[in-house]
Order: sequence, then structure tokens, then C-alpha cells
Amino acid sequence: MPGIIERYRDRLPFAPEDPVVSLEEGSTPLILAERLSEKAGVEVWLKIEGANPTGSFKDRGMTCAVSAAVREGAQAVICASTGNTAASAAAYAARAGLRGAVIVPEGKIATGKLAQALMHGARVVALRGNFDEALKLVRQLVERHPISLVNSVNDFRIEGQKTAAFEIVEALAGELDALCIPVGNAGNITSFWKGFQELGYAPRMCGFQAAGAAPLVHGKPVEHPETVASAIRIGNPARWEEAMNAMTSSGGAVRAVTDAEILTAYRFLASTEGVFCEPASAASVAGLLTHGAGEGVRRVVCVLTGHGLKDPQTALEHAGAVVPCDPELAAIERAVLE
Ligand code: F0G
Repeated sequence: MPGIIERYRDRLPFAPEDPVVSLEEGSTPLILAERLSEKAGVEVWLKIEGANPTGSFKDRGMTCAVSAAVREGAQAVICASTGNTAASAAAYAARAGLRGAVIVPEGKIATGKLAQALMHGARVVALRGNFDEALKLVRQLVERHPISLVNSVNDFRIEGQKTAAFEIVEALAGELDALCIPVGNAGNITSFWKGFQELGYAPRMCGFQAAGAAPLVHGKPVEHPETVASAIRIGNPARWEEAMNAMTSSGGAVRAVTDAEILTAYRFLASTEGVFCEPASAASVAGLLTHGAGEGVRRVVCVLTGHGLKDPQTALEHAGAVVPCDPELAAIERAVLE
């Protein structure tokens, strides 16, 4: 499949002669989750955004943001990130031949994401502060230097990410009642809502935040956000108003899920559906299981935003142990069968 700019050019701000920086992102699987459907009491489909080239939905937005940066003649791109935006920005910058810098909260990003950003050759800056502070600083930095900001405050990111909604509408012929999605900086829920609206659909938008990082739920910024779902460890989302508008005008809501609920959903998806997502992604399913998707909802899509391999440490801490074994038949029989 071609990347999303080529696939949806008529709905994106790119002309045929514009440069395109792509890794053939998008066209991700949408699968029916039978065990989860049974448990939730509604038909649940999973949109597997971890199947994008760098393992998260960010690639849809990044192909647009970096292509636009090249079109504008930028030499470098920068972002603040809890990890996935950094990995994606670093990859697309490498592909475009641009320099990339990523500012991440020190010690608070998952190992896989750090490895990606470093391997792609970005300048990785570990800020002694959180994501909200990092974003504030990069916004100031780009006012002083000719560097393109590729966080989701960049409208090209929203344009690209809305294509996930297009794919869902195409796959289900528009037949969905609700969308469950994790909310961090609130760019992705804004994007989905824009995508659905452009096609004339209005599924109920159910946003879920981690309980320790739930500013939209409390109606005020959280100064020291904390959660096992490091991707959504954000206390003051940039797209606050747009996200609230998406939820209120679709009859949806924003709710909190605890780390324990997130981890239960995370293990359930991996062990019964065969789908390994990262903890932040499991917030969408945890939210559905804890709060439901509302009255009269028959079919739900949960967005699984990032791949489980992004965060091997959390996985190993919450999975079963390996079984040691001597190199003998009797021992291996015991190890395998008992
Ligand atoms: N899920 C994952 C795996 C994420 O990485 C993010 C955000 C979200 C959900 C929330 O999306 O911010 O658009 O509401 N990650 C950003 C990053 C903040 O820097 O990688 P959002």
C-alpha cells in the first residue's frame, strides 16, 4: 500500500508535485476482538496502530509534518516527546536527510523508543523535567531558530492522523457507534474527530486518561503527572479545547483509568487476543471495560496507539517468568509439560 499522503492526497494539504517523505505508513489492521467483545458486552474492533513503520500512530502525522518541513526548506526538525513522537520524528528526519532533535523527560521514556531515536541519528536531549516543560521550551526555541516543530501543535500532524478515521470508516462502511482512545497531549483524538467529521460521521468519542495524569478529567492541569503508561504522562495537553469539543459534541466523555486497570487490559489483549500493545494504548480498552462506551452502543473501535515492543521493561515486569531447564530430555519434558 502507498503511504497516507499518496492514498488520501485529495483530502490532505499536498499538491501532486510536492515532496513526499514516507515510510508507507497507514493501512494498519482493524481486527475483530472476539474475547474482548464477550467481556465488554459490545462488538469490539481493534485498530492496530502499532503496525505503522516506527510502531505507533505518530507516523501518519509525521509523514505530513516532515514532508511539509521539506517543502518549506527546513534544515532541521524538533519535538518534545514522551517517546513515540521522538522515534517517529527521528526516523522521518533521517529519511528526509534533515537533522532531528528530540527532547524527552529524563528517565521517563520506554527503552525501545529511546533506542529508535538514537539509532535514527537524532540529537536526543534528556530534560530534567516532564513532557509539559519540554513542550513549553521547544515552542520557545523554534521562535528563535529556523527549526520546524513537529509536535501535534503542528496542524500537519492532525491532518495526517485523521487518516486513521478514514480507514476505519472504509473498513466498517461507517458502521461504528463509538471510538475509545487514550488521550495524552490530545492531538490524536482531535485528529480522529476531524477525520470522522470530514466524512460526515460522528461516533461517540470516548477519551481515556491515566488516573495520575488526567487533567481533562479534573478540568485543570496536573503539575506532577504520574503513570505506568509513560506515553501519556502529560499534565497540560496542548489540544485541550479541541479534545473536549470532540468528546462533548459527539456525546462522548473523558474518563480516568487506573494503572492497575491499564495493566489488566494490557495483559488481557496480549494473552487472549494475541495483540501486544504498549501500556498507554491499553488505556482505550481499560476505559471501555471500566466505564463502557455509553447507552445503545453496539459496535466500538478501540485505538491501540503503539506496539508492545516499545516498552519491553514494563512487559517483563508484568508477564510470567521464564522456565529454566537443563539440556536433558527428562528435564525438558518436565519443563514443557508440567
Ligand atoms: N498512545 C501512545 C502510545 C502515545 O505515544 C501517545 C502520545 C498517546 C497515546 C496520546 O496521544 O498525545 O495525541 O493524545 N504520545 C506523545 C509522544 C505525547 O510524545 O510520543 P495524544
